[in-house]
Amino acid sequence: IPVDSFDFVLFGATGDLAKRKILPSLFHRFQIGQFGDNSRIIGASRSQMDRAGFQDHVRDALETYGGATDKEAIAGFLDLLDYTPVDAKGDGGWDVLKSMLREGEIRAFYLSVAPSLFGDIASRLKSTGCADDDSRIVVEKPFGHDLASAQALNTALRAHFREGQIYRIDHYLGKETVQNLMALRFANSLFEPLWNSSHIDHVQITVAETVSTEGRGGYYDQSGAMRDMVQNHLMQLLCLTAMEPPSKFSPNAVRNEKLKVIEALEPVQPENIVRGQYRESAAGGDSYRDHAGNPDSRTESYVAMKVEVSNWRWAGTPFYLRTGKCLRTRESEIAVFFRKPPHNIFGEDNELDANMLVIRLQPDEGIELRTTIKDPGPGGMRLTGANLDMTFADSLPDSGSQDAYERLIMDVIRGNQTLFMRGDEVEAAWAWADPIIHAWEESGQAPQQYDQGGSGPDDSLLLMHRDDRRWRPIEA
Ligand code: BG6
Repeated sequence: IPVDSFDFVLFGATGDLAKRKILPSLFHRFQIGQFGDNSRIIGASRSQMDRAGFQDHVRDALETYGGATDKEAIAGFLDLLDYTPVDAKGDGGWDVLKSMLREGEIRAFYLSVAPSLFGDIASRLKSTGCADDDSRIVVEKPFGHDLASAQALNTALRAHFREGQIYRIDHYLGKETVQNLMALRFANSLFEPLWNSSHIDHVQITVAETVSTEGRGGYYDQSGAMRDMVQNHLMQLLCLTAMEPPSKFSPNAVRNEKLKVIEALEPVQPENIVRGQYRESAAGGDSYRDHAGNPDSRTESYVAMKVEVSNWRWAGTPFYLRTGKCLRTRESEIAVFFRKPPHNIFGEDNELDANMLVIRLQPDEGIELRTTIKDPGPGGMRLTGANLDMTFADSLPDSGSQDAYERLIMDVIRGNQTLFMRGDEVEAAWAWADPIIHAWEESGQAPQQYDQGGSGPDDSLLLMHRDDRRWRPIEA
């Protein structure tokens, strides 16, 4: 779908996220013909650099992180670029930026900068006339570190932009399979009638990572898994799994329903949470505390919790969430465990298993349904488990893979906020997370240490055993 031309201004254009994600994503969409002919990308950051310098920087980013090899396409993309140094906290550079923008084009300002600069940049965009009433402003995470700071960011942005112009990124919403969750639920008649506590025993949402916090220990130690992953990414997965069907696939209809889920969350009691921190590995790999440069750190690199959505649909069906660094394998999934059949006609020798629907988000994207069938062969009526497995790479081999940022950036340009968090949604998520974090801080308790390359702290197993349930194994 070709779109109109646009001016895309990238603040923090020489930063890490721009290099790894934003520029390669823009390039890919340019390459497949989704840019209008007059589109332009203007880099803006503190670095003193000219247009040619920025073009070299971008070429390097595309080749290194975007796997770009097509020389002609790269040259075409570099042609769209311009650059100006801009001082986010002063007056320098803004008049030049203004002179680069064209009347009548869509304008998107992407703030790939520290949140402490959101307010300054938003204010100058408006006072210098760079942004008008239709311009979009895009902000990256972290959107605050608690409710008060998120509210302050919202206030700072809304002083200059309407909510309809503000795009708060949670890149999990740009992931193909995450969007597929909505298609699965609301484009099929098969699942929705069963999607409630009468038929679903519990849900497990897992985002396991193998990476450590090495290289970003300073940031991470102030944050921890709860702020870095649960309040945003896992919360979004929970919302999409638990929400009521919106009446249409439009930004506010979807976001209203997500907000209702967050508002229905019960406060999580301390006994329903397990925090972990990875220890030094047997092979001598550094511990979390080494990576954080803080020998006394009480920040968690793992968290597991039992969450209750207190409404008619979900009362009695817990959601178990877990995420952690340095685990055995990188694996994100949503596993929906249905209730067991109410009656077994096959006798004691045939124990009935529950059906389970697994939505694999990454890396091996797909959907899997565990069923029970008759064991083929001469052994009489013996039952066995069998999976209906739809691995996207096999069943949809031409679909290709795309980075979450591609979809989100194009949605900004097209003015579609469906996959972006609304201000009230972010605040509600913090309002839920804050008491949990405060309770930890007050208790002064250290997280439980866990082995690198495993599946997290032992106590996370107990969290499930207590309820007579088990986690799906995290296995390579
Ligand atoms: C980021 C977190 O938002 O998401 C990181 O800050 C985390 O700590 C990352 O590793 C995970 O994203 P993905 O797309 O690799 O699952």
